[in-house]
Amino acid sequence: MIIGKTLFTTEQIQSKVIELANRISKDYKGKEIVMVGMLKGAFMFFADIVRHIKVPVLIDFIIASSYLGTDSSGEVIIHSDLKEDIENKHIIIVDDIIDTGITMNLIRERLLMRNPASLKICVFLDKEERRIVEVPVDYIGYKIPNEYVIGYGFDYKNNYRNLPYVAIFKKAHNKVK
Ligand code: IMP
Ligand code: MG
Repeated sequence: MIIGKTLFTTEQIQSKVIELANRISKDYKGKEIVMVGMLKGAFMFFADIVRHIKVPVLIDFIIASSYLGTDSSGEVIIHSDLKEDIENKHIIIVDDIIDTGITMNLIRERLLMRNPASLKICVFLDKEERRIVEVPVDYIGYKIPNEYVIGYGFDYKNNYRNLPYVAIFKKAHNKVK
């Protein structure tokens, strides 16, 4: 079996998304937010969370990659940068997961150089055990143990992103082409 145990069902995901969106709406009352989605992984979480936020939101994306297979390469490549000018704006970076923290740390430092009014980080999952670089994360959906996950945007070699739930990936039995 390739797709292992389900960690979070569609229902669990949706209720967590609403909980996070409500916190963000409350924290940013009277403000406008630039929500920055980290592609590709965050595409589902991002699309879900933005539609529950009740303050004005501008949408932008960064395409970055740092991962080869199931091991972090430690190298971050930025394939596509923001289109919006973020100076004096309130920014929230939204990613699927924070793992070693290498990607998020680099992106955060790059965006801070552009003088935003504020910058916060929101992730659906946190694999705390694997952290190499400390990064302040303001909104966390769930903390998970050191397991490789697929589904709900999470991939193994670009497969499984479309699954509507999060499951553990069983690498030992994989037959992914
Ligand atoms: P970091 O730089 O090590 O924190 O890597 C973060 C990126 O690695 C995430 O945005 C994901 O795209 C990817 N990643 C980390 N853990 C997993 C996983 O369990 N499944 C799928 N992708 C993962
Ligand atoms: Mg990612």
